[in-house]
Formats: sequence, C-alpha cells, structure tokens
Amino acid sequence: MKIGILIASENFEVFSGGQRIAEAAVALGHTAVKLFERKISFEETTDAGIMVKYDGKPLPEVDVIIVRPNFVEEPTLHQYIYDLLVRAGYKVVNGSMGITRTKNKLLQRSDLRGANIPMPKWAAAYDAVGCLTAVKSLGYPVMLKMAFGTKGKGVFFVDKRETLIPIIDYLSVRDGNPVIIEEFIEEAKHAHVRIFVIGGEIAAAMNVVAPEGDVRSNSGGTYEKIDLTDEEQSIALLAAKTMNLDIAGVDMLRSSRGPLVMEVNANPGFTELEKTTGVDVAAKIVQFSLKKA
Ligand SMILES: Nc1ncnc2c1ncn2[C@@H]1O[C@H](COP(=O)(O)OP(=O)(O)O)[C@@H](O)[C@H]1O
Ligand SMILES: [Mg+2]
Repeated sequence: MKIGILIASENFEVFSGGQRIAEAAVALGHTAVKLFERKISFEETTDAGIMVKYDGKPLPEVDVIIVRPNFVEEPTLHQYIYDLLVRAGYKVVNGSMGITRTKNKLLQRSDLRGANIPMPKWAAAYDAVGCLTAVKSLGYPVMLKMAFGTKGKGVFFVDKRETLIPIIDYLSVRDGNPVIIEEFIEEAKHAHVRIFVIGGEIAAAMNVVAPEGDVRSNSGGTYEKIDLTDEEQSIALLAAKTMNLDIAGVDMLRSSRGPLVMEVNANPGFTELEKTTGVDVAAKIVQFSLKKA
C-alpha cells in the first residue's frame, strides 16, 4: 500500500513522529509518501468535484493519508486541508474536526465537559476580572493556560494574586485571547500519565515526571513504565472518542479523587513512549491506517 504522511512543518527529519511512521510503513513492506501541507492546493473541477494538487502537479497516488497535525496556531487554517482531502475522496486518518476542537483547548474543555469526563476544576475568562472571579472559587495555586500551546509553552503555575495580575495584564496586551484557569493538582506530584490511543484501543502508556524545579511534566522530564487501572483505561478511551480522534495522547493526573483528564493531544509524540515501553507505536499507527485504506 501507499501510505501518505501529511505534516504541517517543513521537515521530516526534525519532526520525529512523521519520520518514524514513514520508517514503520517501509518496515511493514509499504511505501511511505511524505507530504507537506504547504505544497497542497485544491481546485474545483467542472463536474463540481475537487482536484488535489501537490507542488502544482496531481497529488501522488496514496491509499490512505495519515495526518500529523504538528502546529500550534489557529487550527482551522489547517483543518480545511483535511476536510477538502476527504471531500476529494481520500481516506484520511486523524483529520476529523476533532483536530480543531482538541487543539483549541477551550473547545476541548467544552467537549470533555459535555461527556462528563473527570477533569481538574477549571474556568475560562478573558480579563483580570474574569480570572480573579474564577480564582475565588478555585483557590490558589492555579494553572493558567493559553488557548493554543504545547510542550508546556503557555502554561503558568500561579500561586498568588501578585503573580496572576501581571501575567493577565501582559497577555491582554500581547494576544488578547481568553485563557483557562485550572485547579492545581498537588497530589499528582508534578507528574502525569500519558495514554496513547490508536483507533479506540490503548497502544501504550507511561508516567512522565517533571524535571527538578518545574511543575510542568512535559518540559523535558523523566519517563517511567506504568500499569493503568481499569478506570484510567476506560476514561482514556472515552476522552479519545469524545474528541473524535483516531490518534490521541490522553494526559491524566492521578488525584486524590481519582484520575482526572488534564489534556487530550491531537498530535501526540511517541519517541519517549517507544523507548520507555518497547512498543512499536509507529507500526501500530500504520496498521490502523491500513484498516481505513
Ligand atoms: N491542573 C494541573 N495540576 C497540576 N499540574 C498541571 C495541571 N495542568 C497542567 N499541569 C502541568 O503542566 C504541564 C503542561 O500542561 P498541559 O495542559 O499539558 O499543556 P501543554 O501540553 O499544552 O503544555 C502538564 O504536563 C502538567 O505537568
Ligand atoms: Mg500536555
């Protein structure tokens, strides 16, 4: 089979996830076709269909396209590509509207809440008044999160009003977007559980611990093998299904009131996960995509 791997960034060597999937496809006896979003263009055909071009020529033949949405900005500017590929008749893995709803952390909250998935207590607000009102019910410390971001960039630990106000002031001038304010889960001990879900099944999981001097476990910490509880497994599967993702990284905090979903990731990396667990995650992604082809 010919397996397309579509990434937003310009470089497969830099983006290890895309590169690993390409290697796994070849190892399993298939052909990997590396695709970059920026080279794709669309044209309407006279019979009201959609023709896809790549670098000005017809898109190379592919049986399925695996999307790796490796971008952090406004997702709808990428989502239209996945939508139009589907409309043009391509089989697309991990390209549903769930990408946009997951990448926008505020929309993600709305969906997870709608499915009654346990989460840390949270609030969303635009300005200092809204944030201070939220903190009154949440209590310090809180985590302050931007609508878009990854790898801990745009996530702040806020332990008092004096820290919160200058951050909000700065953000209102710099980006003027709403933020999420969330109860800080102390008992999680600066660690989170990463559960990698592919096609409604758990592929692998690990514990991620923050480096010394940081509460953010995704800023380059250490990784450990773990066993998941039944509850963690069922919540992870429900979270991935709720966000309508073929490939999802569900992050959980182990709290005193049970597992809480901290975040669902639509473009979860798996380099450390493969090293820690020995699971060939890339091969599992390829095998799943073949079912869709
Ligand atoms: N409510 C919380 N309680 C404790 N730690 C948190 C909480 N929310 C986030 N963190 C820490 O901050 C890190 C980054 O937050 P996250 O929501 O995953 O954003 P992103 O992945 O976009 O950087 C997490 O890996 C976790 O270690
Ligand atoms: Mg995260």
